[in-house]
Amino acid sequence: MNRKYRKTVIAGNWKMNHTATQTRAFAESLKAILPKSKWCEIVVCVPFVNLPAALKAFRDTRIAIGAQNVHYAPSGAFTGEISAEMLKDLGVRYVIVGHSERRQMFGETDEIINQKMHAALNAGLSPILCVGETLEQRELGVTMERITLQVKTALANIPADRIRRVVIAYEPIWAIGTGKTPTVEQANEVCEAIRTIIRKLYGARIARSVSIQYGGSMNEHNAEGLLAQPDIDGGLIGGASLDPDTFIAIVHAANQDHA
Ligand code: 13P
Repeated sequence: MNRKYRKTVIAGNWKMNHTATQTRAFAESLKAILPKSKWCEIVVCVPFVNLPAALKAFRDTRIAIGAQNVHYAPSGAFTGEISAEMLKDLGVRYVIVGHSERRQMFGETDEIINQKMHAALNAGLSPILCVGETLEQRELGVTMERITLQVKTALANIPADRIRRVVIAYEPIWAIGTGKTPTVEQANEVCEAIRTIIRKLYGARIARSVSIQYGGSMNEHNAEGLLAQPDIDGGLIGGASLDPDTFIAIVHAANQDHA
């Protein structure tokens, strides 16, 4: 990571885990062990219904709260959906957009993801845009093509002055929840390629300032090596973010790299 130009963002994605009661307990445990240093941004992305509990429990801390999804329309007849303005009004700062589980299980296309990016940015939220290849695509050697298409389509018509608020998470689908990870070099290679795409779209200054995370079986053991890579500026963490101790161990690993 290159802290001179961009911030490190360690974000937990709880997915469909933890009740509101568990959220409050998690917050109490986490606050007790939270490092004082402010080297990295810490985000916890909780299920929609737990957002009020999380916002209240972390109110006096530097931890930002994120949602895991958002609808693209500002309002309207979309039963069961949540708008970006609703999230912003609650005090939510981040939102995950285009997670592979939403792409694969809920039919989200690159075009829908682009609309969600616009909605999030229009409301003043910071989207964490997820991109990543399947195992088949990696084996076919089309990883970069797939990532390029995902990044370019997701960012279509997004002006340069808004890109600073975007975080991009490279999450190889085959590494999510499997315990398998790419080598640190492979992970960095894709993150570097994403930065090159941003440079071609928006110029060198903006490309240097965008935080690019790695996600997929990141844990307290492999985080330090991944976070030490020059183009990996943080992590999007699933399973290992559910426990306050392992989550904070990853935050420490990010700080370690700074020391
Ligand atoms: P795991 O850390 O459980 O592999 O999940 C990664 C992920 O999908 C984060 O968004």
